Amino acid sequence: MMDKYNFKELFNRALVKDAFDEEIAIVLSGQYGRALELLQDAEATGLFPTLVGPPGVGKTILCRYFASLRAQQQKNKNFYWLTMDESIKPSHFLGSFDPAITLNKGFVLDAFNPGPLLSAMLEGGTFLANEINRATEYSQNTLLEPLEESSVSIPHLGRIRADKDFFFISAMNPEELSGTHRLSEALKDRIKVWIKLTYPEKSTELDIIRVNLPEHFAIDESELELIYSIIDETRKNKVDIDVPASIRAGIAIAKLLGRKRQIEREKGVSEKESVYVYLSEIASHVLLGSIKPKPGVKAQDIIDRIINKTLGA
Ligand SMILES: Nc1ncnc2c1ncn2[C@@H]1O[C@H](COP(=O)(O)OP(=O)(O)OP(=O)(O)O)[C@@H](O)[C@H]1O
Ligand SMILES: [Mg+2]
Repeated sequence: MMDKYNFKELFNRALVKDAFDEEIAIVLSGQYGRALELLQDAEATGLFPTLVGPPGVGKTILCRYFASLRAQQQKNKNFYWLTMDESIKPSHFLGSFDPAITLNKGFVLDAFNPGPLLSAMLEGGTFLANEINRATEYSQNTLLEPLEESSVSIPHLGRIRADKDFFFISAMNPEELSGTHRLSEALKDRIKVWIKLTYPEKSTELDIIRVNLPEHFAIDESELELIYSIIDETRKNKVDIDVPASIRAGIAIAKLLGRKRQIEREKGVSEKESVYVYLSEIASHVLLGSIKPKPGVKAQDIIDRIINKTLGA
């Protein structure tokens, strides 16, 4: 079945070969520039950093960008990452023995498939433990040796020492958000640089939306401002909203509006339809899944109120 669409060829074409293989369109003004400097300071001093912030504030993109800078300097040092939760076991990041090969040959190196953390340790690459505070204490404890001793023990194979360039970054949502375990005290004590990211200031967020908006979806500056005011309103309303709209929501609204404008341009319509009409419809579609209301509050009610306030009835 696979060769119907030539799996191998498509896979190899899509394969990202190195961390520096990728163009990363990142905005480095405001908090992002400072956070990048802190990551570099942590690396230079051999301290392990963590990025703390709510969903969608740019933790992952900042780590990817930082890893790509390291890769450009040192070549061939890859970026590995794993998003943790309760189901993640140490074997997911360290690696495991292939059952079929082990049956024939026993617990030998040939039978071992390395996991992302082990690969980063061997290569001297960057490993990002995303949502590290969602991992069970058991999994968190497996990270102590790599962090403290720069080494790790693989059952049956022995203990390996990490390459001197190995670097470990973690990221997490603030503990007050639901669905997260606590970071174990032992692990907490080994993470020494705490970098907080939050919703960016207005000019930075507008820049982020701009770089994420394809050219053919261009929108007016005044339209961009309106989109920001909707997003910002969800962040101001702490009474009804538990988790407000992230940067992703603003990007999504801008793309949908941009597409409408593109169609208008292609059709050559003389008068664009009112941004207020479009936006209230689009924003409602995007926000429905982008905000988490407080218990007992209906998402649609808050959305209607926000749209009313920012765009008028
Ligand atoms: N500084 C930035 N420059 C360019 N794009 C950004 C920046 N920060 C965030 N973004 C964009 O915002 C979106 C969310 O960013 P990202 O995935 O890095 O967030 P996150 O904090 O890792 O979210 P989560 O907690 O859900 O994993 C992405 O589309 C990303 O491209
Ligand atoms: Mg992320």
